[in-house]
Amino acid sequence: MIMVENLSVHYPDTKVEALTNINVSFNKGDFVCVLGKSGAGKSTFIRCINGLQKPTGGEIYIDDQRVSTLKEEQLRKVRREMGMVFQHFSLIPRLSVQQNILTGTFGYRSSFKNMIGYFTANELELAKRVISSVGLTEMANRRVEYLSGGQKQRVGIARALMQQPKILLGDEPVASLDPGTSNHIFTLLKEMHERLKLLTIINVHDVDLAKRYATRIIAFKNGHLIYDGSPEDFNDKEYYETYESEQQNSFFSM
Ligand SMILES: Nc1ncnc2c1ncn2[C@@H]1O[C@H](COP(=O)(O)OP(=O)(O)OP(=O)(O)O)[C@@H](O)[C@H]1O
Ligand SMILES: [Mg+2]
Repeated sequence: MIMVENLSVHYPDTKVEALTNINVSFNKGDFVCVLGKSGAGKSTFIRCINGLQKPTGGEIYIDDQRVSTLKEEQLRKVRREMGMVFQHFSLIPRLSVQQNILTGTFGYRSSFKNMIGYFTANELELAKRVISSVGLTEMANRRVEYLSGGQKQRVGIARALMQQPKILLGDEPVASLDPGTSNHIFTLLKEMHERLKLLTIINVHDVDLAKRYATRIIAFKNGHLIYDGSPEDFNDKEYYETYESEQQNSFFSM
């Protein structure tokens, strides 16, 4: 479903080689957790997949389509099929739960329709179903600014599902939430993954969550892919390799 071939990303501003020659592919049904220390390249990787970051080397194929050669219209179609969930939710605080979720349809609509806020009966019906599936029916008309973090992330997930995606991507979607709420959000993500037969790829800092929910773990270190395998095989050795520092902390020895 997604094939990544020799993917490299070099940021000229910081002269950082954020990703180096990454080769990996994902299939429908994979629930992938992406691990790695801060700066390892996780966000860069997710951004390359959803087209927000242009690779400086290599290729990404989505459903056998070579992304770099797609025309604008085809690219929009590919992007529409990828829902994205963010750490800080990226919602519009003054709009209601339902209005925020309906913005998930924008990729399917003309800008004129977006401007006048016109939604079809089908879109409203889909929004209702999606709101119910994330357990927010009672709060559909409440302004998002009055919700808790966990409820906001439910809205974030629902908005992604409004796109009727084939692929669901997440960049640390639970990093701002407490452990109990993080578990609830992962349970919801897994449930949607199974019900809608999605390919799900999520960056996460919490190894326990990854081991509990993922069907597959990949890990980056300094822009290199250092692990691609089952959650069961990601143990102490792999943990150490992923998170150890190359440099000793010199702060206290100064
Ligand atoms: N837009 C950018 N311009 C320049 N350098 C960048 C940019 N984004 C990231 N980098 C650099 O690329 C490297 C990888 O960053 P990335 O954000 O992908 O890491 P990450 O694994 O997501 O880290 P974190 O866990 O802190 O979110 C880092 O060294 C970072 O400083
Ligand atoms: Mg990141």
